[in-house]
Amino acid sequence: MSGTRRLIVAIDGPAGAGKSTVASRLAARFGLLNLETGAMYRAFALKANENSIDPGDTVALGQLAARTSITLEPTSSGNRVLLDGTDVTTRIREAAVTQAASLVSVHPPIRQWMVNLQRKLGADGGVVMEGRDIGTVVFPDADLKIFLDASPEARGERRYEQSGKSSPQEIILREIRERDDRDRNRAQSPLRPAPDAVVIDSTHLTLEEVVSQAEALVTARLAAPA
Ligand code: DC
Repeated sequence: MSGTRRLIVAIDGPAGAGKSTVASRLAARFGLLNLETGAMYRAFALKANENSIDPGDTVALGQLAARTSITLEPTSSGNRVLLDGTDVTTRIREAAVTQAASLVSVHPPIRQWMVNLQRKLGADGGVVMEGRDIGTVVFPDADLKIFLDASPEARGERRYEQSGKSSPQEIILREIRERDDRDRNRAQSPLRPAPDAVVIDSTHLTLEEVVSQAEALVTARLAAPA
């Protein structure tokens, strides 16, 4: 199955659309490495927070990036994330990091640094890479691009259920709208589907329905001439 090993599948979409679940299911089914680029922005944001760097200060963030190493190790249960050699897989999910990741990711020098790292990670193919700009910027020649979308309300509802209903639903929805706004309106590589992406709107679909649509797309791509 050398075709499977070399495939590059890009999955983009807003927060809470189900990208991580779909990416990990595709990775398991087709023997691909699952690379979650949001985790890289999160790891950098964690370091910025720890160093008390203003997430709006482009110059200070650029200097910090120059002395930062971020590694993703795909495992069957998701990505293990190393920040300067330390495992930060759990810490990058904290609310303060989620907020900071959304802020630090708007800066062009930070995006350029991340894009270069991500291109190196995926260079040999055999990957499903998930994020916001994979099909538009990181791998514009990806073999398959999926843009996974859902209404803010549906995504807020899912996050609310996943959080064990621990935070008020209206706060989750407000944060989703704020992150959407930043992701879609930033100057460099705003979140949008690539012209050749297949858009799956999961608002009224179950997870299994989304996964099976995505699997069918990969199967069709593998069957098509290179
Ligand atoms: O997917 P996530 O919630 O883990 O992403 C964290 C933040 O990183 C999110 O606010 C947007 C940003 N991000 C990005 O700008 N580009 C990517 N390829 C992945 C994530």
